[in-house]
Amino acid sequence: MKAVIPVAGEGTRLRPHTHTIPKPLLRVAGKPILGHILDDVVALGIKEVVLVVGYRGENIVDYVRANYDIDLSFVEQSERLGLGHAIYLSREFIGEEPVLILLGDTIFKGDLKKMVASGGNSIGVKRVADPRRFGIAELQDSRIVSLVEKPEKPKSDLAVAGIYAITESAALYGALDSIIKSGKRTKGEFQLTDALNLMIEDGSVLKSFEVEGWYDCGKPEALLETNKALLELASPEVKIPGSIIIDPVYIGENVTVESSVIGPFVSVAKNSTIKRSIIRNSILGESAVVEDGLLDSSLIGDNAAVKGMFKRLNVGDSSEIDFT
Ligand code: G1P
Repeated sequence: MKAVIPVAGEGTRLRPHTHTIPKPLLRVAGKPILGHILDDVVALGIKEVVLVVGYRGENIVDYVRANYDIDLSFVEQSERLGLGHAIYLSREFIGEEPVLILLGDTIFKGDLKKMVASGGNSIGVKRVADPRRFGIAELQDSRIVSLVEKPEKPKSDLAVAGIYAITESAALYGALDSIIKSGKRTKGEFQLTDALNLMIEDGSVLKSFEVEGWYDCGKPEALLETNKALLELASPEVKIPGSIIIDPVYIGENVTVESSVIGPFVSVAKNSTIKRSIIRNSILGESAVVEDGLLDSSLIGDNAAVKGMFKRLNVGDSSEIDFT
């Protein structure tokens, strides 16, 4: 089995961070999102990975080449024509070999092995509160009978989670070829969901697989939620003399922490400095500086500095100051 990971998107919902770093390289729980995904792929025994790159693709190529000793191929999606189009571009690297497709902004924990082992074409799904934001599956038992991309009136609350194990690769690439050649777009894009639906219409059996550990990283709140969940799973124990650490936190190499309270759910990348600060539920980039800071639910980029958030007050008896 080979893996395809589409990582071409601009990550607009994560600006300003994605102005300088492509979304898959944003760090969560001490590692780039793509690092978490590739570690899982390698753990499955998959040795050939195709990355569909676009926005800041050279950064992604550099990161992956420097950190992973596996058979890597890169294909460029120069125009963002949709997920279906991105996957179509990988066709020559996959041929008829079974393929595992994983989205570049989503981390799965604990599910991959079971899903791949289940055999056949298997699509990861999960019940969600707002199905209009996702591809939606309709099932008969565990078999998918139809798929619709972000329907206005969803027929189920079962979302396509962004993990697809396809054994009939030739049928998948054939279906992608048909939707692209016929110009069939949904919401303006060539959709993977439409190609999978076409496979069903043409007689392929697509089974659903209910995923458990599904961690989205597409927007700031999701990135922080994922940071929290992955830190909880790893539950590292950190001790720093002179400061209070409330686990779980991740503190990278060569980080200076003085007279501070850090945690829970804080990730700090290498070479950063934190002094006289209180930080919880936040992600700090490399060489960031926080001094006299009070931070909650914050994303602080590489080389960014945040200072002086404590207040000086001179308040008389019976006064009330409320900063909320
Ligand atoms: C893509 C897929 C959609 C799926 C979602 C999961 O949408 O097109 O079917 O439900 O990923 O995250 P996107 O989030 O890229 O708009």
